[in-house]
Amino acid sequence: MKILVTGGCGYIGSHTVVELLDENYEVVIVDNLCNSKKDVVDKIKTITGKDVKFYEEDVCDKKALQKIFKENKIDAVIHFAGLKAVGESVAEPLRYYRNNLDSTLTLLEIMAEHKCYKIVFSSSATVYGAPKSLPIKEDFPLHTTNPYGSTKLMIEQILKDLYIADSNWSIAILRYFNPIGAHASGLIGENPNGIPNNLMPYIIKVATKELPYLNVFGNNYDTKDGTGVRDYIHVVDLAKGHLKAIDKVIKDKGVDCYNLGTGKGYSVLEIVKTFEKVNNIKIDYKITEARPGDIAACYADPTYAKDKLNWEATLDIKKMCEDSYNYAKKQK
Ligand code: NAD
Ligand code: WQD
Repeated sequence: MKILVTGGCGYIGSHTVVELLDENYEVVIVDNLCNSKKDVVDKIKTITGKDVKFYEEDVCDKKALQKIFKENKIDAVIHFAGLKAVGESVAEPLRYYRNNLDSTLTLLEIMAEHKCYKIVFSSSATVYGAPKSLPIKEDFPLHTTNPYGSTKLMIEQILKDLYIADSNWSIAILRYFNPIGAHASGLIGENPNGIPNNLMPYIIKVATKELPYLNVFGNNYDTKDGTGVRDYIHVVDLAKGHLKAIDKVIKDKGVDCYNLGTGKGYSVLEIVKTFEKVNNIKIDYKITEARPGDIAACYADPTYAKDKLNWEATLDIKKMCEDSYNYAKKQK
């Protein structure tokens, strides 16, 4: 079985490629390296001892995709390629709409041309906006607050319309909660450029003394300790969810959405304390203003993924904090 992984050099994509190779899938990666590095391909080979075919191409490039589909008999696609920074999407909406929508439309057109109708798509819990209650179920109202989130919601709609038009399609839409952690080897992980926007990459920079302290965005939320609560999920658990989604799209036609989260919410201060304890390191922090657009709490009801995909997260918050730091130390 041959799987095309778009964005396979990125954070979640690379971990998913490792799991696919471990399960003896053949993998073809297409990535334009706009937010990743080519050496990830070698690291994947080192971890798995297996070969992976890599095309450095833009998924918006129709000719390049044609070539990939002609040269490889692709059975199914996992589509990670996309831009993902919320703040950047507010500043540069056209780049976000162009990249995320164009890449998806081009990919779907070429897939249909080659009669490849099985796709797993990376959506996000951001499509729930501010949820009406917790935990979040898949049938909650959808609402976005920034262009990044809107690209995800639009793509979900495109995929649903596609199935209505042609019932040959098998589509799994995965709504990720907050992925953190890294592969236990410490060879692959998340390494954003510049000052990180997300919590764990920021904590890491404080741990490695590249930044002096963490800004905790608000402590007046209606949560256990006043700081924001999120459903953090180990990236390896998340990657394994994609293999279950591949099983599903291979078996059944249709289109469906699945929350990939643990179902547990942790506050910012709980993450800081756990990180300090498991890694035996002090993380200085200051309480600052709440970040505009943030919600108080967000965590999944992961029951549907358990029932329909036979998947659930198994790695706990300690392992997430340990593996995140293990990867960071190996980058030094
Ligand atoms: P990432 O930036 O690490 O990986 C995305 C990869 O796609 C990168 O390697 C980038 O170079 C590539 N890419 C982007 N546009 C491309 C294009 N036009 N052609 C070819 N390659 C392209 O991001 P990630 O964290 O691994 O996220 C993967 C997917 O999951 C994204 O679609 C993202 O929106 C989604 N997602 C991420 C999170 C998160 O917190 N990390 C949460 C929910 C959803
Ligand atoms: C987590 C918590 C912050 C940084 C974002 C996207 C979402 C999804 C995942 C792609 C919040 C607090 C953070 C800091 C802090 N991505 N925080 N100090 O905002 O839940 O989700 O990433 O789909 O779309 O919006 O994640 O890691 O930024 O924040 O106190 O320096 O940590 O306020 O409570 P978020 P995050």
